[in-house]
Amino acid sequence: MRSHLCTEPRREHIGEEITACGWIHRRRDHGGVIFVDLRDRSGLLQVVFHPEQEAVFAEAHRLRPEWVISVRGVVRDRPEGTVNPELPTGEVELVASELTVLNRSDTPPFPLDEADEVGEEVRLRHRYLDLRRPEMGANLRLRHRVIAAMRAFLDDNDFTEVETPVLTRSTPEGARDYLVPSRTHPGSFFALPQSPQLFKQLLMAAGVERYYQIAKCFRDEDLRADRQPEFTQLDLEVSFLDEEAIMALMEGLMRTVFEAVGEEALPDPFPRMTYHEATTRFGSDRPDLRNPLELTELTDLMGEVDFKVFREPAVSGGRVAALRLPGGGDLSRKEIDDYTELVGRYGAKGLAYIKVNDPGDPAEGLQSPILKFLPGEVIAAVLERSSAEAGDMIFFGADTVAVVNEALGVLREHLAADRGLLGEGWRPLWITDFPMFEWDEEARRYEPLHHPFTAPYPDHLDRLESDPGNCLSRAYDPVLNAAEVGGGSIRIHDPETQSRVFRALGIGEDEAQEKFGFLLDAFRFGTPPHGGIAFGLDRLVALLARAESIRDVIAFPKTQRASDLLTRAPSEVAAAQLEELGLRLRRRAGGGS
Ligand code: AMO
Ligand code: AMP
Repeated sequence: MRSHLCTEPRREHIGEEITACGWIHRRRDHGGVIFVDLRDRSGLLQVVFHPEQEAVFAEAHRLRPEWVISVRGVVRDRPEGTVNPELPTGEVELVASELTVLNRSDTPPFPLDEADEVGEEVRLRHRYLDLRRPEMGANLRLRHRVIAAMRAFLDDNDFTEVETPVLTRSTPEGARDYLVPSRTHPGSFFALPQSPQLFKQLLMAAGVERYYQIAKCFRDEDLRADRQPEFTQLDLEVSFLDEEAIMALMEGLMRTVFEAVGEEALPDPFPRMTYHEATTRFGSDRPDLRNPLELTELTDLMGEVDFKVFREPAVSGGRVAALRLPGGGDLSRKEIDDYTELVGRYGAKGLAYIKVNDPGDPAEGLQSPILKFLPGEVIAAVLERSSAEAGDMIFFGADTVAVVNEALGVLREHLAADRGLLGEGWRPLWITDFPMFEWDEEARRYEPLHHPFTAPYPDHLDRLESDPGNCLSRAYDPVLNAAEVGGGSIRIHDPETQSRVFRALGIGEDEAQEKFGFLLDAFRFGTPPHGGIAFGLDRLVALLARAESIRDVIAFPKTQRASDLLTRAPSEVAAAQLEELGLRLRRRAGGGS
C-alpha cells in the first residue's frame, strides 16, 4: 500500500514514483492548485494536486481534515520560495497522479493543529485524535526510547525483569488503596499495589539479586500536575550492594538514558545533599539547583526581640528565616500582596519584608512594616547574614519549621520563575539522610517519611525508641530540576529491626504479623542485605519532553478527579455483578445509589 513514509523523500528521490499513506493534516487551495499536508507516524509531506490531472484533482477537492488516503505520484523539488527549512522533507513535494480515499472522517471536534487552544477535557475525551498530533506522537516515542534505553542498560548489568502481581495486598506508600472485591471470598478485597515494594523484597529473599520491572502503581491520592492515580515506575532492587554502589549504578542508568535521547551529559558524579541541608537552605527536599535563591537562618537572632511574630517560633522550636531577592526592591505593593497570598496557602500567617534602599544606612535606607519591632543590631545582623545589597528585597518567614520551609520554599520557586532567575540545563542531585519518620499532628503519631521497610543507620538504631524524630534513614532520592524523580533506600533485612520500626510506627505485633507476616517470615530464612529504588517514569519522561504535566506523556491519563473521560471509567455496574460479589450499595442522601 505504501512505498515510503511521509518524511522519507529527500532531494535524492526527485523523479522517483512513490506511494505514501496517511491522514490529511491540512488542505490549502492556492490559485488553482491544491496542497495537502499528508501526515503519518513519521511526520508531514507536502502533496500537490494539479488541475491537469482532472479526475484526481476533482477527487482532491473533496478531501477533508483527518481523511485517510493513499497517494501515488512523483517526487520533485519545490518551486523557488516554497522551500520549508523547518521540515525534513521541506525541499521536496509529491505531485499526485493517483488518489485513493481509504477512510473518511467526521469533522474533528478540535483542529489538530490548534489543539493547544482547546480545553484538555475535549482532548482527553477524543484522546485517539489528540495522540495523532505530532507533538503527542513524539512524546509517546520518547517514552518508548527512554524505556528501551533503561531495559538495555539493566540487561547489560545482569538484571532480570520480573512481573509482580497487580491483585495483591495493601503495600503502604502513604496513599489510599484501590480495592478490588473478591467474588470467591465474599467480603474480602484485593488491593492494587501502591508499588511492588513487598514483592521486590521477596524476590531478594528468593535469590534473584538483581530485579527490575516497568511497573504500574496505583495510589488513591489528591492529584496534581505531576501525580496520577495510576502511574508507572521503573522499579528495581539489588542484593549485596550498599548505597554508594547503588547510587553510582543509578547515575550510570540516568546518564545512559539521557544520552540515548540526545540530551546534554549529566554531571558526574551527581552532587549530594542531606535532607537537613536541603530543607534548611532551600526549604524543600527537592530543591531546584538552577535557582540561585537561598534561605538565610535567623532563628538564633530572634529569641529576645519584642516582635512576638518572630520571637515565639524562635523560642518554641520553630524557625525564622529570610529569603533575599536580589534587585527585588522594585516589587510593587500588589506583587507583595500576591506573594503574601501565595505563602498563606501554605500556612504562613504573613509575609514580612524589608525593602533595602541603602544597607549602609539602617536608619533611613530601609523600608519595612517590621523595622520598629526589631533592635538595630538584629537588623544589622539580618542584612549582613543575607548579604543584602542596595535594591534588594528581603522576605521573612516565622512559624513551625515545616510551615516556614514550605512557604519560603514555594516563594523561592515562584520568585525565580517570575523574575527569570532559573539557570539552564540539567541539575540532578541526591538527597540523603532522610528522617525515618515524620510526626503527624492530626493522627498524633509518627508516619514513615518513605515506607516502613527503609533501614535506619545502624548507629541510630537506639533512637527508634529514644528519639524517633531524629532517627535518620539510609534513603536516597534523586531530584532533577525541582522534581522528585525517584525514591530509594537500603532496606531492613532482619525481623528484629523490622519489628522495632513497626513498633515505632505504632503497629503492634499482631497487626504486623497479620499485614506483613510473610515478609517477616522471609527475613527468618536468609534474606540477603538489599536495597533499591523506583524512578517515576512519567515524571522523568515529562521532564525530557518539556511537558507541563505528566498527562502529556501518558497515552490514556486520568483527569484531576481520577476519571477517564474517554471510556467513562469509573462507571456503575449491574446489580447482578454486585450481587455476585456480595456487595450492596448504601443509598446516598438525595436518593441516588
Ligand atoms: P515513591 O513513593 O517515592 O517510592 O515512588 C517513587 C517515584 O514514583 C513517582 N511517583 C508518582 N508519579 C506519578 N504519580 C504519582 N501518584 C506518583 N507517586 C510517586 C515519583 C516517586 O519519586 N517503593 C518505593 C521505592 C523504593 O523504595 O524502592 C516507592 O514507591 O517520582
Ligand atoms: P502584624 O504584626 O501581624 O501586622 O505583622 C507585621 C508584618 O509581619 C506584616 O508584614 C505581616 O505580613 C508579617 N507577618 C505576620 N506574621 C508573620 C509570619 N508568621 N511570618 C512572616 N511574616 C509575618
